[in-house]
Amino acid sequence: MNLILLGPPGAGKGTQAKLLESLYHIAQISTGDMLRAEVAAGTPVGKQAQAIMSSGGLVPDAIIIEMLKHRLTQPDCANGFILDGFPRTVPQAQALDVMLDAAGLSLNAVIELKVDDDALTDRIGGRFSCAKCGAGYHDQFKPTEVEGVCDVCGSTAFVRRADDNRETVAARLVAYHQQTAPILPHYAAQGRLHRVDGMASMEEVTQQIESVLSALPPR
Ligand code: AP5
Repeated sequence: MNLILLGPPGAGKGTQAKLLESLYHIAQISTGDMLRAEVAAGTPVGKQAQAIMSSGGLVPDAIIIEMLKHRLTQPDCANGFILDGFPRTVPQAQALDVMLDAAGLSLNAVIELKVDDDALTDRIGGRFSCAKCGAGYHDQFKPTEVEGVCDVCGSTAFVRRADDNRETVAARLVAYHQQTAPILPHYAAQGRLHRVDGMASMEEVTQQIESVLSALPPR
């Protein structure tokens, strides 16, 4: 199964993509995580991306498309994938169509998580993750079971993303509305776009996505 999760920053794409990865045994591909790894490793791509990510803008299409093209050839994608954070522009969506066609693949569904802008600031403001295993949490909506201890690996070290500050979040939202939302009609025209209510609880959002996926026609 090949899926795209679309939605503004903080909509819950990463949260749901990780759950779907284990439910459907398909690879979660987050271009944001890939870029953060490049930044942490100090690669030329990371150096170029760092300033753009800090400003809330989008990394150039050519870089992202090349990164994704390589990623889709990895063995863990053989059973399918969930794209989380890609595509983000019309040229990225068009490049993905070409890539999939060339590989004889197609998308089963594009799922848009609809969340009000006001709620996104609260979600992003409270987000943190385990520094060791990357498990995601939220101060209010998904705290650790034991305060200060990761539920998954027991680590006591946590991190918050550098671009989760108020100014950058505002710029990321502008980028979403101006550059990413215009790809929605591209997928609606293909008959692949499904909307779910991302304002619901995490569990309810997962259930909505599962209902969409179970009703899909075979492709
Ligand atoms: P990226 O890492 O992709 O960030 P984003 O799209 O801004 O999305 P987030 O990761 O912030 O949010 P999310 O939707 O995954 O929410 P989450 O599940 O964590 O990109 C970062 C940057 O990299 C970009 O700004 C850009 O510069 C660059 N980049 C990346 N891809 C690119 C591309 N293709 N082209 C160009 N540039 C690119 O949830 C948020 C919080 O809310 C969590 O704490 C979670 O616990 C909580 N939460 C989740 N669901 C719910 C719920 N239903 N109810 C309550 N709380 C919830």
